[in-house]
Amino acid sequence: MPKRWGKERLKDFFYRMAKSRGYRSRAAFKLIEMNEKFKLFKEGSVVVDLGAYPGGWSQVALNVVGERGLVVAVDVRDIKSLGVPNLIVLKGDICDEEVHGEVLRTLPRKADAVISDAAPKLSGVWSTDLARQALLIECSLRLAHKALRVGGNMVVKAFQGEGLDDVLRLLRKSFSVVKLYRPKASKKASREIYIVCLNFKGIEA
Ligand SMILES: C[S@@+](CC[C@H](N)C(=O)[O-])C[C@H]1O[C@@H](n2cnc3c(N)ncnc32)[C@H](O)[C@@H]1O
Repeated sequence: MPKRWGKERLKDFFYRMAKSRGYRSRAAFKLIEMNEKFKLFKEGSVVVDLGAYPGGWSQVALNVVGERGLVVAVDVRDIKSLGVPNLIVLKGDICDEEVHGEVLRTLPRKADAVISDAAPKLSGVWSTDLARQALLIECSLRLAHKALRVGGNMVVKAFQGEGLDDVLRLLRKSFSVVKLYRPKASKKASREIYIVCLNFKGIEA
């Protein structure tokens, strides 16, 4: 890790707060804020967490759903166990139909929420990164179509830029309410934004 980057992280308020509260990522605070504002899931909910490594969002979701709920976390990277029985960890690509099948097999019933913080490794070529992010959103939506109950909610990470309007149009075919939200914990320089999708209509996009 370059020295300067290490120092910047230490100065970062959300990074320090994540450390002190035992969250695996500073991203945890983005989900806390969005769930407080939009009530994506609640106690007893079944939540599918896509692009879940290292597990900060899963920790937040588990805190909310409690012992009666379930979180299914998927990532191409290995997510270390959190030592609780109601977290199921799957390793795989969220664009792979077989992984979708695995997710569906683990669900006791349709999910109340699909939350996706999945993001590609940035290449530095903005158009490439935008296209890769758009594909991850599409994959999350495809999985949501199979896994989400009617009336369920979704949140996906996006990048601001060309193509975002097309993505919003696509999502509006499947959800009654679709809005953009930038949590306080998003880094100032970052172009990330979240698309909050409420009330799944159960209609194929
Ligand atoms: C920003 S991180 C997620 C952080 C997580 N929400 C947390 O709070 O700990 C993005 C994750 O997306 C994952 N990812 C990217 N493409 C993926 C794909 N096609 N399938 C599964 N995971 C993917 C990456 O491996 C990475 O761990």
